[in-house]
Amino acid sequence: MKVDPSLIHRLFYPQVPLVMAARHGGRVSAMPVVSYLVASENPPMVGVACAPKGFTCRLALKAGSFSLSVLDRSRRDAVSRLATTSGAEVEDKLSEVGLKYEAGKRVNAPVLRDALATLECTLKSSKRAGDHLLLLGSVESASASDAFTDRWDYARYRPILYTGWTEGLTLFPGS
Ligand SMILES: Cc1cc2nc3c(=O)[nH]c(=O)nc-3n(C[C@H](O)[C@H](O)[C@H](O)COP(=O)(O)O)c2cc1C
Repeated sequence: MKVDPSLIHRLFYPQVPLVMAARHGGRVSAMPVVSYLVASENPPMVGVACAPKGFTCRLALKAGSFSLSVLDRSRRDAVSRLATTSGAEVEDKLSEVGLKYEAGKRVNAPVLRDALATLECTLKSSKRAGDHLLLLGSVESASASDAFTDRWDYARYRPILYTGWTEGLTLFPGS
């Protein structure tokens, strides 16, 4: 069947959403993202396609840095709320949804405390890609829980598997 362009992103489901977080000028914001990639291994670089009007995207551009985190599926409700709350309306969206964080060790970005994995990134470039901005960041630091050695222990790794949005973040059946 021919797939309508507006549905192309659904061909990639299920996806593990990451939480992208940024801070600047006393404001803290974060949003779930699935449009991400490992852009380079050496040096390590990652990319995220962000809607340019999004508050988190604008904070990351101003700060010149951001973090990315993988959360356990028990945090699903908080991640849903990050998608439905605008960072423009609250001073600190992470606290608003009950996600604890600390200052990044290598970059000026909030890093989620109970994450399964976190990356601290310095923004290297932003390039318009259609209706999104592709933010490319160099990874200054990466850490993970002990469920990761050189790969995830899939008996213990329980990420969110996103399959779409129907009045909330929906999970892969059976997850
Ligand atoms: C699972 C999931 C993945 C998302 N992925 C992206 C993404 O990759 N890029 C993006 O710009 N928005 C993405 N969004 C939408 C933003 O999270 C949402 O617009 C959010 O409210 C932006 O908040 P902000 O304006 O405070 O930054 C996603 C939403 C969900 C639920």
